[in-house]
Amino acid sequence: MKLKKALITGITGQDGSYLAEFLLKKKYIVHGIKRKSSSFNTSRIDHIYENKRYKNKFFLHYGDLLDPNSLTSVIKKIKPDEIYNFAAQSHVGVSFKLPNYTSQVNSIGTLNILQSIYDCGLVSKTKFYQASTSELYGEIQEKKQSENTKFYPKSPYATSKLFAYWITKNFRESYKMFASNGILFNHESPRRGETFVTRKITLGLSRIIFGLENCLYLGNLYSLRDWGHAKDYVEMCWKVLQHKKPDDFVIATEKQYSVKFFVDQCFKYLRIKIKWFGKNLNETAKIIDFDKNQYPFLKKNMTVVKISKKYFRPNEVNNLIGNASKAKKLLKWKPKIDIRHLIKEMMDNDLENIRKSKIK
Ligand code: NAP
Ligand code: GDD
Repeated sequence: MKLKKALITGITGQDGSYLAEFLLKKKYIVHGIKRKSSSFNTSRIDHIYENKRYKNKFFLHYGDLLDPNSLTSVIKKIKPDEIYNFAAQSHVGVSFKLPNYTSQVNSIGTLNILQSIYDCGLVSKTKFYQASTSELYGEIQEKKQSENTKFYPKSPYATSKLFAYWITKNFRESYKMFASNGILFNHESPRRGETFVTRKITLGLSRIIFGLENCLYLGNLYSLRDWGHAKDYVEMCWKVLQHKKPDDFVIATEKQYSVKFFVDQCFKYLRIKIKWFGKNLNETAKIIDFDKNQYPFLKKNMTVVKISKKYFRPNEVNNLIGNASKAKKLLKWKPKIDIRHLIKEMMDNDLENIRKSKIK
């Protein structure tokens, strides 16, 4: 039997690493594009590379979304059955500081892949998945956002992803390419980048617990998000490309929580009692009660969360929650991992890593 070949851009990122594992288990040959960096950027996939089972099944190629030659040469060589475009400057806050770069990578980078597929004569062979985002909804136009909700992007990141969404649709309509958008709501994991809020919280609290830091500084505590687990969501990306026709799908848990709720749940999991004081930029959380034997570095009344202006965006997306009925119905999908399990997994992972690094 001929094995399917997949190419993943952004393979060194959170989603790329989970999708690579998922596809290898499904007996795909997996190719990934990684960019040149001055220090190692493969920590999320090293365990796959080192696994003997995947010796002739997992390959990495240097490339960059901004270098069309690199994309064309890899695509021409591999002739993949499926391409998953996960590569992006994916941080919304950073996109305000680097709007031009963000737009180049996320918009033109996506076009570069689509054009490479076209130029390589693979339009009728290669299926294309675009990592679209709930950030497209920005200033929400409907209580729960579905595939039919109007977009209102509010950041350079979101506008760059809007171009990518539409150019994917254009290639589908113009050339009958199997090109689909997965409109994914936030999804997290122990492999989440350290500057995204959930990981910043689990890592920050772990560092406080081990006495490496005193306080966690956050921005908008009242922002509401629909948080799922990345491992659950990459299965959906695959299902989007296995559907009988190319289409666009919202993937979400349909549950919404605030950043403050996420912080509270982490402390609850750790069995540390905190209390919130003050308002707006003066809001803080103090430790009220804890087990001194379990947490020797903590002190009663210690201020463990403060607000910093620095982490607010010029144009904040306050409220996102998805309506994933279409994916549930057509792709037979249901999220498996809830927020409490997600928090447990992320907290355990960060605590364990810091504990290990301290005894080295
Ligand atoms: P991530 O962890 O930030 O990973 C981004 C990946 O893109 C990394 O592998 C990065 O490489 C690579 N990359 C960045 N610029 C590149 C370039 N110019 N050329 C080639 N590769 C480049 O993101 P993620 O959380 O896995 O998300 C995956 C995709 O889904 C992104 O497109 C994101 O915008 C989108 N998305 C994410 C979520 C979410 O909640 N996670 C929700 C909706 C949509 P380095 O490792 O070298 O930096
Ligand atoms: N990063 C960060 N750091 N966010 C904070 C902080 C902080 O200290 N304090 C509060 N927040 C708020 C942000 O303002 C935002 O409202 C919310 O927490 C979530 O922020 P992020 O975790 O950075 O994610 P995001 O929602 O902006 O973007 C992520 O999800 C999108 C899907 O909706 C990224 O993964 C995007 O790539 C993705 O498209």
